Amino acid sequence: DKGNHRHFMEKEIYEQPEVIAHALSHYIDFAGNRIKALSGTIDFAKIPSLAISACGTAYLAGLVGKYWFERYARLPVEIDVASEFRYREIPLPSEAAALFISQSGETADTLASLRYCKELGLKIGAVVNTRESTIARESDAVFPILAGPEIGVASTKAFTCQLAVLASLAIGAGRARGTVSAEEEQVLVRYLAEMPRIMGQVLNAVQPKIELLSRELSKCRDVLYLGRGTSFPLAMEGALKLKEISYIHAEGYAAGELKHGPIALIDENMPVIVIAPHDRFYEKTVSNMQEVAARGGRIILITDEKGAAASKLETMATIVLPDVDEVIAPMIFSLPIQLLAYHTAVFMGTDVDQPRNLAKSVTVE
Ligand code: F6R
Repeated sequence: DKGNHRHFMEKEIYEQPEVIAHALSHYIDFAGNRIKALSGTIDFAKIPSLAISACGTAYLAGLVGKYWFERYARLPVEIDVASEFRYREIPLPSEAAALFISQSGETADTLASLRYCKELGLKIGAVVNTRESTIARESDAVFPILAGPEIGVASTKAFTCQLAVLASLAIGAGRARGTVSAEEEQVLVRYLAEMPRIMGQVLNAVQPKIELLSRELSKCRDVLYLGRGTSFPLAMEGALKLKEISYIHAEGYAAGELKHGPIALIDENMPVIVIAPHDRFYEKTVSNMQEVAARGGRIILITDEKGAAASKLETMATIVLPDVDEVIAPMIFSLPIQLLAYHTAVFMGTDVDQPRNLAKSVTVE
């Protein structure tokens, strides 16, 4: 049932404040402001490293997770798309753990990667939406994302719930490893707890502007997305979302890679969507934006209030989100990215919930 929404995808985008709150309540003790002890699961204090593997959007969630596990838990992370991971013959120590991220829990390559790691003797964790799935069944520890059924082929709420779970796990791992203090944990958990409310505000606030902008975007053949730090995987997720439902060619790049190739593509016909919260990367990303502007490129800047105030560049549009802490920025910045893809596709008249050539669950290699 789509309720008041035109598509399941729209419904699922707007469900995010609610499902994220639900997911967080599974991992967070709100009274004590701490991450719940995840009993009988992976011992993050003892493992030397973590391997992560997944496909598509779930892989991009894992890539954000890598930044968090490395930053908060000082845990080295090896990550790859499952179709490469399973064949690479990665030397993984048997004392390590591996996380497999999958909405459906049935993706063939992700399952094959899981079985490969199991054979090597690694502890296996599954970040899944469908708890009664093969990937969940074959894992030592199941970390449900509790997003509820996702019908739209383009993943939205599953992505942000995967992020919420990975952030909780990384902070919990940091506590276990002594790299996050009890005080830091409290602060981070408070930021996570505020997230559902902020998501609700953002969804309402940005919608009209994004709908207007999507008309412009629907006229383009190619779109480039740029970001640094955790905004880099988000740039790739934005590009994936746009291409799969609107069929506009889009690419996500690390902002620092711009001058190593893609800058050759920049002209007035290719909008560049820059994801730039006012974090420690902001100045660097702005200087990449200047390189785009100097070549006549049209910039769509997705930033926060501080970032908007600090930018002097002329843009095609600026989408301003509230200032939030770095730990929740990826989830908050996902929202305008999803809405932009959604409204562009609606405007173009594609089959948003069932895009051509795509299946919700990919059980063949
Ligand atoms: C993109 C999308 C796909 C899936 C991928 C993995 O919107 O939905 O890229 O993320 O096929 O699927 P799961 O998570 O079921 O393993």
